[in-house]
Amino acid sequence: MADEDSPANIAGLLKSIELPGGLALRNRIAMLPMTRARANADGTPNAMMAEYYHQRSGEVGLVISESTVVSEVGRGFINGPGMYTTEHAIGWRRIVEAVHARGAKIFLQINHVGRLNNLQHLRCPVAPLAPSPIAVPRGSRKITINIPRVTPYDKPRSIGTDEAPLIAAEFARATQLAVFAGFDGVEVHADSGYLIHQFLSTNVNRRTDRYGGTPQNRARFALEVLDAVIAVNGAEYVAIKLTPGNDVGDIEEDDIDEKYDYLVGELNKRNGLAFLHLYFADLASSKTFRRMRARFDGIILAEGSQIPADYEKMLADGLLDMTGFGRAYIANPDYMTRLVEGYPLSQAISESIYAPPCAVGYSDYPAFDPADPTGSVVGLDGPAYEEGLLEKQVNGA
Ligand SMILES: Cc1cc2nc3c(=O)[nH]c(=O)nc-3n(C[C@H](O)[C@H](O)[C@H](O)COP(=O)(O)O)c2cc1C
Repeated sequence: MADEDSPANIAGLLKSIELPGGLALRNRIAMLPMTRARANADGTPNAMMAEYYHQRSGEVGLVISESTVVSEVGRGFINGPGMYTTEHAIGWRRIVEAVHARGAKIFLQINHVGRLNNLQHLRCPVAPLAPSPIAVPRGSRKITINIPRVTPYDKPRSIGTDEAPLIAAEFARATQLAVFAGFDGVEVHADSGYLIHQFLSTNVNRRTDRYGGTPQNRARFALEVLDAVIAVNGAEYVAIKLTPGNDVGDIEEDDIDEKYDYLVGELNKRNGLAFLHLYFADLASSKTFRRMRARFDGIILAEGSQIPADYEKMLADGLLDMTGFGRAYIANPDYMTRLVEGYPLSQAISESIYAPPCAVGYSDYPAFDPADPTGSVVGLDGPAYEEGLLEKQVNGA
């Protein structure tokens, strides 16, 4: 994140870029996908979400939506959005229009959480799905979820060999709905311990059929999803996010080089993908990142714990084409203005990150106002967080 009060030199990142399909982005900075769990109970995006995205799309080139699930069984967050009903698509359409109105483009991130769901929100018991029937370990600290978990995660049911293409088809259906809603593209969420990453893993994928065993077989489901999604509206409409070696969701991968070399080779064959999105906990020091960058022929959006000046240098060094920021956008709807002007940053409060649908700690963070710096820089004691405000709004008091 930016040092407060020091304008960042990000001249290169502020230059426009054209994606393979001809989609023009006014700069190379994305607002990164961030789950905020503010949709209606049935996953329909609402007016408050449209306001939140509208506030944050004033300067960025690209907005990548929060993770959005492709089916009911694929849901992991209460009030997380979906893209599998007409109502979902109509709700998203309002958000797309709000972002376009401010000159940014928007991709929908599509996901299925696999075993990271105990499906407590469904009326009758249903087992979560996973490549193999291996539950998240009891007491795992490597998960982020807001579904009540009084018991450990349920043991998932193994996805049948003939069933896997049907799940790929759910990603395709979400893509059709994304086209209807006016999205500029979709990003396949193949990371962070969710279903596709579970297939890629060596600990949750113990299969002996064509989806397991070798690194190539473990990559098969990711590629089948990708191909199903590409079939909807072309490769240019599709990006993919990978986080090799990320152990979120209790994922282990002991075949990283071989598997991701193969996967990147296969991505190259799907000529014209919008971009490859890579996250590494420390991007600058990751050898896997450099290895993938060297092998991938297309546009790379890379991010991971660097300050803006470091991303700028990595762009100049040819290591990335685009980057983005996540957490800074939670409390700073005008983050890029603050970055460029050297304005101070507001601090987000963690309790409201996944709070039940309410504007507090979501769409009520102010943009910086030079005439009112104290009122527009929010800290723990700032105006958006007077004591009890969150509880009052959640309880309707
Ligand atoms: C509250 C929160 C929610 C997130 N949700 C998602 C998500 O839905 N999909 C995703 O791919 N990454 C998600 N991420 C990861 C971010 O996109 C990003 O990779 C990460 O925050 C690092 O960028 P930063 O250092 O600029 O925050 C989330 C991060 C945070 C802090």
